[in-house]
Parts: sequence; structure tokens; C-alpha cells
Amino acid sequence: MHLTRKQWLQALTLALLPAQPTAKILTTAPDPTIPALTYSITIPNTTSANSASSSGADGKGSGPIYLRLTAPTTMQWLSLGQGPDMATANIFIVYAASATTVTLSPRSGGQGQPSYNPAANVTLLEGSGIVDGRMVAEVRCENCWGSWPALSGSGTSGDAVVEAGGAATGAGGGSGGFVMDPTGNETAWFWAYQLGAPLDSADVGAELGMHDVKGEMVWDLREAGFEVGAGEELEEGFNPFA
Ligand code: HEM
Repeated sequence: MHLTRKQWLQALTLALLPAQPTAKILTTAPDPTIPALTYSITIPNTTSANSASSSGADGKGSGPIYLRLTAPTTMQWLSLGQGPDMATANIFIVYAASATTVTLSPRSGGQGQPSYNPAANVTLLEGSGIVDGRMVAEVRCENCWGSWPALSGSGTSGDAVVEAGGAATGAGGGSGGFVMDPTGNETAWFWAYQLGAPLDSADVGAELGMHDVKGEMVWDLREAGFEVGAGEELEEGFNPFA
């Protein structure tokens, strides 16, 4: 095939561009009456690889996972629970902080309102906020392969205290928490939301009312992943959903 000089230059330019990581994003819209309510996950291959070669006895993965929660602003809060039950789950709650921003409140706790858990290593990524009339939270979690260190105390959000033992072991596994396999094909998650006016609160311990609707879901994490090239590192603010 004969290429003109221009075509040849175009081809060369394309070849020189770094490969774009195409993320496999697993998304569930669990409530058919509200399709704008969605939960997504993707996991870098570096994370999964760590777990396979992990020398830890519990076989738990290490490295970040990325989550995306979206919901219409007719919801006061929406939430994703990671794990099999309320008592051990890592709970991500999202509500409006202002007309343009959202609050991500990581919580734990089994009875009634979960409490803010400061041991959650989570970041709200650039791209989150109130976008086109939807609350959008794009999240990196650095310690989501097991339950976050347990809270002790009375369970109110103001005086949450991290148990020293839980913090020392990293997260989960030790005291009856869940452990999630990065390549698990039947991982347990659940979700809930409450309808209502925007909370407009930047307080991660904000008082929340009980869910109107809740449910469970099972995710095949093999459907969630993206490649990080050999020798490359994920930048701090990298957002696979962008
Ligand atoms: C915000 C304040 C909350 C209150 C006051 C509250 C209260 C309750 C109560 C009283 C129950 C038992 C009755 C029932 O099954 O309906 C319950 C169950 C449940 N809640 Fe909540 N909840 C809250 C937040 C959440 C959040 C953020 C989630 C996360 C997705 C959640 C997930 C569940 C699930 C899955 C159940 C059923 C299983 C279980 O009882 O462990 N809740 N909640």
C-alpha cells in the first residue's frame, strides 16, 4: 500500500501515542424505577496481581479499587455497602454538599445509622460533584480488600474511635471482618438510598434518615479491570471513569 507523506505522518503520530488504557467498568443499576442510580467498579491489574502473589496468609489483595456512585438529586443520600452484611461492610454514603459538590462519607457499623470511619482510606476524585443534575462520586479506595478497622465506642458519629488492634492489622480479616478476593466472581455488595431534599452538608458525620429502598447485589470482579503498563504507576489523582 502506498501512503502519501501526510498519511504516513498520521500513522506515525498514532503509533507514537501511548496506548490508552480501556477500563472494563462493571456497572449495576439496581433499581429499574430509577435508572440514574448506578454503582460501578474497576480495579487496576496491579491490584489483582498483588493478591495472586500475596504472601499474606489471608490471601487478601492490596492496592486501590475505584468506585463510582451516581444518583438523581431527588435522593437525599445513596449508599454502597461492600461486604456480606451491615456489621462488617465498608459503607460508602454520598450526599449533596452544595449545589455543585458532593460529600463522600465512609462509614461502618451494624445497627441503625452507620458511623463515620476515619480509618477508611478513600479519596473523592476530580470529576465528582453534581453533574448534569446527578450526584456523581468517583472514588479511589486504598484499603478496601477487607473490613476497615472496627469502630469502638457508643456508635455515634461524633466520637468514633479506631481500635488499636484493628488499625495495626491493616483492615479486616482479623476480627470477623470480611475479606474480598480481587478476582472473586461472586463478591457481595449491597445498596440503599433515601429520597428527599439535598442535604447540603459537607459533614462526613451528618445525621441521616433511614433508607426508603435497599437491596443486595453480586459482582463478578473479573468483569472489572484495567491495565497499568509494566513499569508505569497510577498517578495519585488518576480517574479511570473520566
Ligand atoms: C442512615 C441511617 C440508617 C438507618 C437509621 C438504618 C436503619 C436500619 C434498620 C432499622 C434496619 C432493619 C430493618 C430493615 O431491614 O428495614 C436496617 C436494615 C438494613 N440496612 Fe439500614 N439504616 C441506615 C443506613 C443504611 C445504609 C447507609 C445502608 C447501606 C447500604 C443500609 C443497609 C441496610 C441493609 C442491607 C439492611 C438489611 C440487613 C441488615 O439488617 O443487616 N442501611 N437499617
